Amino acid sequence: MSVKQERRDFIGLAFGAVAAVGGAATLVAVKKTWDPLPSVKAAGFTTVDLSPMKEGEMRQIEWRKKPIFVLKKDASMAPNDKRDIVVEGARYMVAIGLCTHLGCIPEWKPGKQVFVCACHGGEFDADGVNTFGPPPRPLDIPPFKIDGTKLVLGETSPEYEKLAAQA
Ligand code: FES
Repeated sequence: MSVKQERRDFIGLAFGAVAAVGGAATLVAVKKTWDPLPSVKAAGFTTVDLSPMKEGEMRQIEWRKKPIFVLKKDASMAPNDKRDIVVEGARYMVAIGLCTHLGCIPEWKPGKQVFVCACHGGEFDADGVNTFGPPPRPLDIPPFKIDGTKLVLGETSPEYEKLAAQA
């Protein structure tokens, strides 16, 4: 092989290497641009520690600008294996707090143990199941994951998939 030929091979290899590194760097830059920022990713999740909740307590929290009802069931509320989330032996009803008729926010009436929608009089029981009026279906269950005693809204899990399939 001539000296000229070797030099040409070397230059070709050098260009190829530079192009490969440049291409890889471009792909990394493109991925960084397209990936959501960490703050945006974190904004999709809401974590709630369920351990301080008392039996019969209802909390309204927010997840992705939607109201979420979290009710820790007490002994007077019948278990519902199709909708209850069980955490360390305690049962919780967790649902998106928007009426399934036209989207108003129902109000929890602890004395009667019902959620009443003021818009058109729809009612949901302590399981979030529609029992009266125009709502066509139970309150929706948001995607969730259980992490110890914490409820993580915005992530799916086998528990969520099971409830979503039955609810
Ligand atoms: S929006 Fe709730 S009953 Fe119509």
